Amino acid sequence: MSGAAPAPVCLRDLEPLVADRLEAGPLGYFAGGAGDERTLADNEAAFARRRLLPRVLVDVEGVTTRTTVLGTEIALPVIVAPVALQKMAHPDGEPGMARAAAGAGTVMTVSTLATATPREVAEAAPGAPRWFQLYVLKDRAVTHALVDEAVDCGYDALVVTVDAPRAGRRERDLRTGFAVPPGIDMPGVSAAAGHSAGLTPAGFFSLVDPSLTWKDLERLVDAVELPVLVKGIHAPADARLAIQHGAAGVVVSNHGGRQLDGVPAGIDLLEPVAQEVAGEVEVLVDGGVRRGSDVLKALALGARAVLVGRPLLWGLAWDGEAGARWVLETLRAEIELDLMLLGAAAPGAVSRAHVL
Ligand SMILES: Cc1cc2nc3c(=O)[nH]c(=O)nc-3n(C[C@H](O)[C@H](O)[C@H](O)COP(=O)(O)O)c2cc1C
Repeated sequence: MSGAAPAPVCLRDLEPLVADRLEAGPLGYFAGGAGDERTLADNEAAFARRRLLPRVLVDVEGVTTRTTVLGTEIALPVIVAPVALQKMAHPDGEPGMARAAAGAGTVMTVSTLATATPREVAEAAPGAPRWFQLYVLKDRAVTHALVDEAVDCGYDALVVTVDAPRAGRRERDLRTGFAVPPGIDMPGVSAAAGHSAGLTPAGFFSLVDPSLTWKDLERLVDAVELPVLVKGIHAPADARLAIQHGAAGVVVSNHGGRQLDGVPAGIDLLEPVAQEVAGEVEVLVDGGVRRGSDVLKALALGARAVLVGRPLLWGLAWDGEAGARWVLETLRAEIELDLMLLGAAAPGAVSRAHVL
């Protein structure tokens, strides 16, 4: 923790704290979005446009932030999003993030583009809930090996990301000339490409199979015993197709504004999808969650829980595992307070009527 810097109070305090510690390339890779970054900006702006409507004289003395996702108990309706290259933020990397998630009582999602193997992350936080995020690679042998490792190591679900047949046009990376720095290894990428240092995002995304279709998803669902969540759903019709092809849930996500610029904010995509499928499967959402009140808005519009990406990266960059834990604990405290002020004693008590 840096001595002189003021202590952060909320999640938004973190990025300025760490911005001068990171090189321009990694900073732009973490912070940036695609194209004009309209969707990136809108992810946060759309939360600001929504208004909460409290109910009063509701007994909230026994307030709890606990809930479940896919049958797993979690201490707060916030899950660690799959985010690539975490050792580039801090040497604690994904193992540290997994310990932070375990300590805070929630699920860690490990990326295919992680800088640790699925086994190393599992061993860092034994017994804690964890999901593996899968990019289906052209190299199916490497893809299957990653899935087998996740299954062997007790991962609880697969999160198949479907919005990235290629990397979006991330112009911050083009301006800084970002490539994976020497000494940083993504074992999944190295298994497919022989190495990962020196690759650009366009380079490592070129390993992803762009010919994937719903049939492939169904084959995967049939082949793997774990529940499969489909991440990157925008259209209600695709949420319906995901269920028809065996998905256990969907993650409504525009990938943090990093793929197709010009799509709606995550929170604006949520309600139509939830109306289509929320009675049948669990619906999660991400993009721009920075406050406990954002989480409540997502619950009100039909999400079971949210995923958080960048703030956890900034927490990790700030103070490693402890910094990521601070982010989750801060969100938990905000959610608890905001539930009381909203007049809802638990995540499940938040309804459509609580948001305008
Ligand atoms: C630096 C960075 C790397 C990411 N890497 C992945 C990834 O490897 N796989 C994936 O499915 N999503 C990835 N995402 C998207 C996140 O899972 C999530 O959808 C997004 O960060 C949510 O938005 P937020 O950062 O505003 O919370 C990444 C996001 C960022 C910022």
